[in-house]
Amino acid sequence: MIDKIIKIKNETIKKLEEISDLNIWRELELKIMGRKGELTMILRNIQALSEADKKTIGQAANEIKRELEAKFQEAKIKILGNGKAKSNFIDVTLPGQKFTSGHLHPITLIQNEIEDFFTSLGFMVLDGPELESDYYNFEALNIPKTHPARDMQDTFYIDQKNKDGDFDMVMRTHTSPMQIRAMEKYGAPIKCIVPGRCFRSEATDIRHEHTFYQVEGLMLDKDISISNMKALLEETAKFLFGQNTKFRMRPKFYPFVEPGMNGEVTCYMCQGEGCRLCKYSGWLEIVGAGMVHPNVIRAGGVDPEIYSGFAFGFGLNRLAQLKYGIEDVRLFNSGDMRFLEQF
Ligand code: FA5
Repeated sequence: MIDKIIKIKNETIKKLEEISDLNIWRELELKIMGRKGELTMILRNIQALSEADKKTIGQAANEIKRELEAKFQEAKIKILGNGKAKSNFIDVTLPGQKFTSGHLHPITLIQNEIEDFFTSLGFMVLDGPELESDYYNFEALNIPKTHPARDMQDTFYIDQKNKDGDFDMVMRTHTSPMQIRAMEKYGAPIKCIVPGRCFRSEATDIRHEHTFYQVEGLMLDKDISISNMKALLEETAKFLFGQNTKFRMRPKFYPFVEPGMNGEVTCYMCQGEGCRLCKYSGWLEIVGAGMVHPNVIRAGGVDPEIYSGFAFGFGLNRLAQLKYGIEDVRLFNSGDMRFLEQF
């Protein structure tokens, strides 16, 4: 009898190793372990044996039964678990798989809006290098090496000398170098915007980051005046912040424009009444701009006697801060999901 039980065991284990279908597994389990299964029937017959045989054979048979039960469980887990096996079994009680979808960063959202607005007016959208030469970042923009205007932008210089022994490469401090590169490539007339990342060696605070985004704009043609600039910047402000937004310009020095200015909009929080955000002035600065300096036009290979125009630089982080009511600029680069998931 014990030989018979061992034979059943060995054959069953061999079959279990080959089974990959749950239905076949069920059939085998019923055939061996079921109420009228082969093993069950033999175990029942043990009752009829002598007391001595009952003890030895019964004990061995029960051990084999337990071993086989474990083997059946193992095989079942393998069939269900590895997913490779063909099975019609679907456990509808399991929780579904969650697919989380990503979304655009708030800086990208506002950049897209600005690109849409300017392309609808016939502007090209250009891209420029983040690692710039000292020449494009400063010199060609009318900021010579020894000029105090260099102090306006704390710069990350790159630890690599050029052939003249100068530290010539900088992480661009603004997108303005692209004014020169765009003129060199496309000449005049030209209408373009350049969104991009900029870097300054700043002690950071809620309005200043070491890594931030600007969008540069350049328009050169014959007979372009400061009124064209004001009209365009005012329309941009209304497009971004609503038709009731007012826009004003105040003089500001930038070496690469003459005259230079600061563009401000009515504070969106207090509608110009005065509040903590606008430091009770009713106005918020959003853009630096001005008529492109003749030296800069010349550096771009264009004749300033024929062509004139304007350039401007929006701080994209600042625009996103204003539009979405974000107090601290450092949140943009923080990677904090609690912040990012709100957009
Ligand atoms: C400039 O960078 C000029 N290139 C802008 C310009 C272009 C003027 C063309 C004239 C003609 P400014 O340093 O003011 O200017 O920076 C422009 C905007 O960039 C600021 O208004 C601000 O919104 C943003 N910005 C500047 N520094 C930082 C910073 N550290 N963190 C976040 N945003 C900054």
